[in-house]
Amino acid sequence: MIPLAFLSLLLHVSASSSFAAASDSTYNTFLQCMQRNTKALPSQLSSIIYSQTNPSYTSVLRAYIRNARFNTTSTNKPLLIITPTTESHISATVLCAKTLGLRIKTRSGGHDYAGLSYTSGVPFVIIDMFNLRSVTVDLADQSAWIQTGATLGELYHNIWKKSKALGFPAGVCPTVGAGGHLSGGGYGNMIRKYGLAVDHVVDAKIVDAKGNVLDRKAMGEDLFWAIRGGGGASFGVILAYKLKLVPVPDIVTVFKAQRTLDNVNDKMTDFVYQWQQAAPTTNDGLFMRMLIQPVTSKASKGQKTVRVTINALYLGKADELVSFLAKDFPLLGLKKENCTELSWIDSVLWWANYDNGTSPDALLDRDPNSAIFGTRKSDYVQNPISKDGLEWIWKKMMELGKVGLVFNPYGGRMNQVPESATPFPHRAGNLFKIQYSISWKEPGPEADNNFTTQIRRLFSYMTPFVSKNPRSAFLNYRDIDIGVNHFGPNSYEEGKVYGVRYFGAANFDRLVKVKTAVDPENFFKSEQSIPTLPNKA
Ligand SMILES: Cc1cc2nc3c(=O)[nH]c(=O)nc-3n(C[C@H](O)[C@H](O)[C@H](O)COP(=O)(O)OP(=O)(O)OC[C@H]3O[C@@H](n4cnc5c(N)ncnc54)[C@H](O)[C@@H]3O)c2cc1C
Ligand SMILES: *[C@@H]1O[C@H](CO)[C@@H](O)[C@H](O)[C@H]1NC(C)=O
Ligand SMILES: *[C@@H]1O[C@H](CO)[C@@H](O)[C@H](O)[C@H]1NC(C)=O
Ligand SMILES: *[C@@H]1O[C@H](CO)[C@@H](O)[C@H](O)[C@H]1NC(C)=O
Ligand SMILES: *[C@@H]1O[C@H](CO)[C@@H](O)[C@H](O)[C@H]1NC(C)=O
Repeated sequence: MIPLAFLSLLLHVSASSSFAAASDSTYNTFLQCMQRNTKALPSQLSSIIYSQTNPSYTSVLRAYIRNARFNTTSTNKPLLIITPTTESHISATVLCAKTLGLRIKTRSGGHDYAGLSYTSGVPFVIIDMFNLRSVTVDLADQSAWIQTGATLGELYHNIWKKSKALGFPAGVCPTVGAGGHLSGGGYGNMIRKYGLAVDHVVDAKIVDAKGNVLDRKAMGEDLFWAIRGGGGASFGVILAYKLKLVPVPDIVTVFKAQRTLDNVNDKMTDFVYQWQQAAPTTNDGLFMRMLIQPVTSKASKGQKTVRVTINALYLGKADELVSFLAKDFPLLGLKKENCTELSWIDSVLWWANYDNGTSPDALLDRDPNSAIFGTRKSDYVQNPISKDGLEWIWKKMMELGKVGLVFNPYGGRMNQVPESATPFPHRAGNLFKIQYSISWKEPGPEADNNFTTQIRRLFSYMTPFVSKNPRSAFLNYRDIDIGVNHFGPNSYEEGKVYGVRYFGAANFDRLVKVKTAVDPENFFKSEQSIPTLPNKA
């Protein structure tokens, strides 16, 4: 467990005001350094470098803050925000930040659950990738180059404009950024058919710690391996990924189903138990996500109960789906009238909770316009949870009152990819991943403390039911409770604590070797980055 004191240190470093005072002289020094390294005119550079006194600084900073917890006046702010429009701006920023002794945080979509792409406990600059967001689809090659500042919604929209027969197996939230999502091993509702997004990355471009721009051939297979799930922030600034697209049928099917604990006819516990057997083993084309949350009972007013909701995508027609689910998941009782057949792009909108009939152009909307506080955790389940175990979990969830669970089924393609293929190790042997989810609207430290305590309690109650040694976690569900690095003499040991949980012991070792080879001075470091090998004394 991370001591709370450290978290508040991270968020409320009181030195932030002295950072501000230093900012103007930092700006001038930085600008001069950028001129030397880019040969650009000051007027060209001044429009991409924001100091804290620039009137647009706050709006540029806030544009990609996606979690209200890190949107307060006491949150530590960057000295400068760089919004590059060319690769050379990024190379120069790396060299100049190094010269000035500033840490770099790279932000693509800003969806990091711990805000690590735009906060820091030490003086830092942000490289904000939003100007670099082209998506170029090559139909003949069935591939796409995507700059890391693009969102997943922009990716899906660009594919759809070119072809109704192709898609890509990445996340369901359209405003998630490609940079964090792909480097962190992103997944979506086609995971059982096609595996992870990174299983379809065939090339990449990165700016390394020396400021060099490298493609797959130039960076070599080790670094190329590392940036497909090992996290981008440890290795450089990733400019773009080349993705192999996947076929999607003309018609796909979606459905929702709900059960509540206080409705005895729903047999909710039996239903969830059967889901555990069916969801990871049924037809690979079917993904049935299950959300579990405590809610207020309709039957007995004021009482708490638990509700489960399935959201499902099947890559095929409703008739087939209804027929195999009658065998695999009889308690669901799915009928054709419960299903909606639609195009793949409309299923993307359905998963993103858009109203029926919304144009795919909505996927280009980069501003979710929500100011919600929230935090997440993750776990992996390798053996079905018994009915008694489930009943006990329901009881605990009702006591806690707000925190929810999301079960994401694995199996299918995930069972066929070796653990070592990418840094993401959670493959065969996992039935499903749990996301712990809590979001709230009340500002202030008291609510923050209440809700983070709640999610930690549920996480602790779940210990008997989830993976052990290590208790595995998913990098993209960033959780700083599982450890942070202070970059002192114990940097490697600290890194190993969270590293083994995110990547497994063998992949962590390989990531450390790659890191030590490509960034021996550990310039690219962050609260949960890959450490370098310890110096042998
Ligand atoms: C609403 C919501 C829905 C989500 N849904 C899913 C889902 O369906 N599937 C899933 O797998 N995950 C999901 N996630 C998690 C998401 O994939 C991660 O938070 C991801 O890291 C976000 O990427 P980003 O570019 O938006 O984040 P950022 O906050 O910009 O970056 C995240 C991390 O990556 C680093 N980084 C970003 N860009 C670069 C770059 N160009 N080069 C080097 N390092 C970089 C940052 O420094 C930071 O460490 C969701 C998150 C949210 C908030
Ligand atoms: C951040 O704060 C500003 C100003 O209060 C607000 O407009 C914006 O919606 C907030 N964003 C988030 C994600 O909290
Ligand atoms: C399917 O539809 C029927 C009839 O409308 C309804 O009673 C049933 O609850 C639905 N089942 C699911 C899984 O939604
Ligand atoms: C959307 O509306 C159309 C036409 O009204 C209807 O046929 C279809 O079933 C609806 N789809 C969903 C997902 O509700
Ligand atoms: C925090 O929890 C306490 C104890 O349950 C409660 O009295 C208080 O209202 C909560 N505060 C907030 C802001 O949620």
